[in-house]
Amino acid sequence: MSVQYQAVGWNRQKRIYDSVLAGGILTYLAIFVGLGAMLYPAATAETLLIRGFGTLALVLLHVILCIGPLCRLDRRFLPLLYNRRHLGVAMFLVALVHGVFSIIQFHALGDVSPLVSLFISNTRYGSLAQFPFEALGFAALLILFVMAATSHDFWLHNLSAPAWKRIHMMVYLAYALLLAHVVLGALQSDRDVLLAGLLGIGIILLTALHLLAGTKESRIDREVARAELDGFVDVCAVDKIPEKRAKVVSLGSERVAVFRYDGKISAISNVCRHQNGPLGEGRIIDGCVICPWHGYQYSPDTGASPPPFTDKVPTYQTKLIDGKVLIHPCAHPPGTRLEPSLIERVAAGETK
Ligand code: HEM
Ligand code: FES
Repeated sequence: MSVQYQAVGWNRQKRIYDSVLAGGILTYLAIFVGLGAMLYPAATAETLLIRGFGTLALVLLHVILCIGPLCRLDRRFLPLLYNRRHLGVAMFLVALVHGVFSIIQFHALGDVSPLVSLFISNTRYGSLAQFPFEALGFAALLILFVMAATSHDFWLHNLSAPAWKRIHMMVYLAYALLLAHVVLGALQSDRDVLLAGLLGIGIILLTALHLLAGTKESRIDREVARAELDGFVDVCAVDKIPEKRAKVVSLGSERVAVFRYDGKISAISNVCRHQNGPLGEGRIIDGCVICPWHGYQYSPDTGASPPPFTDKVPTYQTKLIDGKVLIHPCAHPPGTRLEPSLIERVAAGETK
C-alpha cells in the first residue's frame, strides 16, 4: 500500500515466487526442446523454440486465468494471487519471444518488412482451413502488451481502479483470440492432435472453475438482507462471525464486510481500494483489516488506512439486537468513523 502509488515493496515472498516462476519456465523449455528433439529428430531448433515458447505462454495464461476462481473457492490459493502480475508480465515476455521468433522464421526473408508480410502473405480470411491465424496471435499479443505495460501500480493509481480493471478484463478477449490462433493454426497442420486435446482440457477446466466460483458468489448475492428493521438489514447471528474475521453480505450491487473483533462489530465496504480485492476474506491483525490480495490495511471502524497511507473505503452503521447483527445499507463516505457495536452490551440485554 502507499502514500503515492508504490504499492507492495519487494519482499522475500515475491523473490521466492519469481524464482519458482523462472525455474518453472526454464524447466518447461528444457523438457519441451529436449523431448521434441528426441521424438521429432527432423524438427529444427527454431521450430522447437517457437512451439516451446508458444505452448508455454498458453499454459501460463491458463494458470493465470485459473488463479482468480481458485482463490474464490479456496483461500489456500491466495499466495498464488499475491504476485499474479509478475506471472502476467512473464507470460507476455514468453509470448513475445514466440511471436518475434515466428515473424523472423516465417516473414524475414522476403523483400517486404516482416511486419507487413505478416498481414499480406496470407489474406484468405474467408477460409477456415487456410485462415491467417498469425494475425490473431498478433492481436492477442498487443492486448497482452497493454496489460503488461499497465500492470504497475503507477497505472492503477493514474487510470483509476475501474478503468484499470476494464483494461485487464481484456485478457478474456486475448484468450479467445489465442484459442482461434491455435485451433486455426493447427487446422493447417496435421500433427496437432495432442495440442488440441490439451487445449480442450484447458478450456473445460477454466470454464468449470469460473462456473463454480460464479455460483459461490451468486449465493452470497442471493443471501441479501431478509428481515428489515428501521431500515437496518439482518446479517447473521453474531456467533456466526469468527473472531477477527468477517461475514460478507450483499446489499444490492454493494458488498459489505462485517467484522467481529475484540468484542466489537464494524462494517466496511468489501472492495479494496487497490485492485478491488475482497476485504471480507481478509482478517484483522494488529487492529487492521488486511486485504488478502496484497496486504493493504484498513481500520475496521473508520475504513481508513493507518498513517501515512491515505486509502479509505466506505463504512456502514451496525447494530446488535438479540445476538443478531444488523447493518444499515447506506454507505458512509470513505474514511467516516462509526462507533462499533459492542457485543458485551448485547449480552446484558442492551442494543446498539
Ligand atoms: C505476433 C504474434 C504471433 C505470431 C506471428 C505467431 C505465430 C505462430 C506460428 C507461425 C505458429 C505455428 C508454429 C508451428 O506450427 O511451428 C504459432 C503457433 C502457436 N502459437 Fe503463436 N504467434 C503469435 C502470438 C502468439 C501468442 C501471443 C501466443 C500465446 C500467448 C501464441 C501461442 C501459440 C501456440 C500455443 C501455438 C501452437 C504451438 C505448436 O504448434 O505446438 N502465439 N504461432
Ligand atoms: S491490497 Fe491489492 S487488492 Fe487489496
